[in-house]
Amino acid sequence: MVLRLVYSSVNSDMGVNDSKLQRLRDILASAQKHNGQNNVTGFLVFDGTTFLQILEGERKDVIGTYDRIKLDKRHKDIHLLEMTDVPQRQFAEWHMGGSMRTIEAQEIYLSHGISQEINLKMLTAAKIVALALDLQAYEQQQSRERV
Ligand SMILES: Cc1cc2nc3c(=O)[nH]c(=O)nc-3n(C[C@H](O)[C@H](O)[C@H](O)COP(=O)(O)O)c2cc1C
Repeated sequence: MVLRLVYSSVNSDMGVNDSKLQRLRDILASAQKHNGQNNVTGFLVFDGTTFLQILEGERKDVIGTYDRIKLDKRHKDIHLLEMTDVPQRQFAEWHMGGSMRTIEAQEIYLSHGISQEINLKMLTAAKIVALALDLQAYEQQQSRERV
């Protein structure tokens, strides 16, 4: 069993010249460094406004990571949506995979009933995991095509 934690948050204001894609890249770079050491895996969805993140691993590692993330000023309105034991990791290949919402990925959001901005009232942890699994498959396909 591993612990799976799902939360949502909202991107904090940025300077007018800052790019949202660069923000995601910066976060993923530091996430990958720490998560590699802690054997935490997961996925981070970002549509430019809302973050949806899944963290998986040993209980103490996941909670320690989440406690650190909560202090980060790059996001706010952090809501814990689920903390549950699962039989195995579903994002095992990524010490933190991530996906920026792009026009190309729009179809995947649509297939999950998300046509406009992410509406947290409509989302459950299970729906977030399902969306993230499809985005993970999409990102893996994209990175294979780039090689
Ligand atoms: C939306 C979001 C997701 C993050 N995810 C992780 C994560 O999975 N693991 C992690 O260690 N840090 C994550 N961080 C970064 C931490 O908040 C923190 O900045 C980092 O762990 C500090 O490490 P550094 O100063 O060495 O970069 C995340 C931050 C944000 C805003």
